[in-house]
Amino acid sequence: MKQEHKIFKGKTLGILSGGGDTPAINSSIEAVRNRASMLGFKVYGIRSGWKGLLGDGDVVDLSQQPYDGWYGGTALRSSRTNPFPSKKNPESRVPQVLRNLERYKIDVLVSIGGDDTNGAAKRLFETEGIPVIGFPKTIDNDLRTRTMHHYQGSEIEAVLCPGFPSAAASIAEFTASIRTTAESHSRIIVLEVMGRDAGWLTGAASFGGATLGLIPEMEITKERKYVLMETIRETYMKSKKKYLVIPVSEGVRWYDEKSEKLGVVYASSELDEFGHPRFGGISGVIASEISHKLGIEARAQITGYYARSGHCRHYDRRLTATLADKIVDLLLREDYGQMPVVKSVVPYVELEEFNTTSIDMGDVGNKPLPTEYYDIEKFSFTPAYHNFLSKILETPNLDDFKYDFPVVLPE
Ligand code: F6P
Repeated sequence: MKQEHKIFKGKTLGILSGGGDTPAINSSIEAVRNRASMLGFKVYGIRSGWKGLLGDGDVVDLSQQPYDGWYGGTALRSSRTNPFPSKKNPESRVPQVLRNLERYKIDVLVSIGGDDTNGAAKRLFETEGIPVIGFPKTIDNDLRTRTMHHYQGSEIEAVLCPGFPSAAASIAEFTASIRTTAESHSRIIVLEVMGRDAGWLTGAASFGGATLGLIPEMEITKERKYVLMETIRETYMKSKKKYLVIPVSEGVRWYDEKSEKLGVVYASSELDEFGHPRFGGISGVIASEISHKLGIEARAQITGYYARSGHCRHYDRRLTATLADKIVDLLLREDYGQMPVVKSVVPYVELEEFNTTSIDMGDVGNKPLPTEYYDIEKFSFTPAYHNFLSKILETPNLDDFKYDFPVVLPE
């Protein structure tokens, strides 16, 4: 009976997720599905991002289905499909998307994605008038959300993107954990962390006990490399237990002595439909140069997909719910072409709808790590960044076995 009074009775909302997955996508889907259902929408899931709107379409009904939002990744699956013409795929597939939106009678589209997926959604809104709402997503945290960080009387424009809190917690814990093997072998472990263009996620390692760190925003030129090597030597020698974990972003620009050029290390030369190559392997290059130049044993460890894997953490769970609350407001006002965001960086308990706003999807774009968060001279993350992280992460177990065994000399 009451069903008849639901505001959007008879309307259908489609949800899709595109780009690299995160541990918080299912949580986002569940939260949006629940709220849209309460408003009276029938809710469809479009599988594999934009791909699910090509050809005959690949659409499932989420309306009255159990949904596990704690489970990591995306049950709707993801792809890096770009419906607009690209180098890899010069033909526009927008007509197929429009045809399927009509065939499945989808009235509103919620696209969960980063700059690429939401960029395509924004273009569909602007050029075709499709009612879309963007939902932020990336472990790299480099999607502009205009979230302000109040720190010691100043305001820093930060980013708070679902997926990042869970990934950052995993990187902080991984770093804290790998310290024991680095310590046992008196080694330097160069820890490679995802992040093509920004060092947000790499910085999470400093929360796990790493002192130095390298990010894509700071080029390691020939001159800087010399200073870096000296800094590493000094930090290692000064460390009480003679070991170091150095996190480096996969997208670090590094001076190569053979070619005398600054470059990145690719895992593959293949480009995706948004023109991105796949990075990977810089940690091996850096570890080998440390061993050769400093004579200190160094090893590389790529964290890779580990950061994106596993269950959704508590902070992300509440963050996705809070942003979905804002979606209710956008749906009620039929305010499309918008993306909900959190206004300021707050601890878990303060994640509430009144601390959200929405931004025009045309203003999204990429956001590098702010200069306030990284000390270029010291190759390390600043107390301001630690303060940012402390709001969204729990301190990992930083146990330290403080042994100081007396040395025995032969009689
Ligand atoms: O989504 C961004 C990201 O996590 C980057 O940090 C990484 O370079 C990329 O995804 C790798 O994605 P895939 O191998 O799944 O294409």
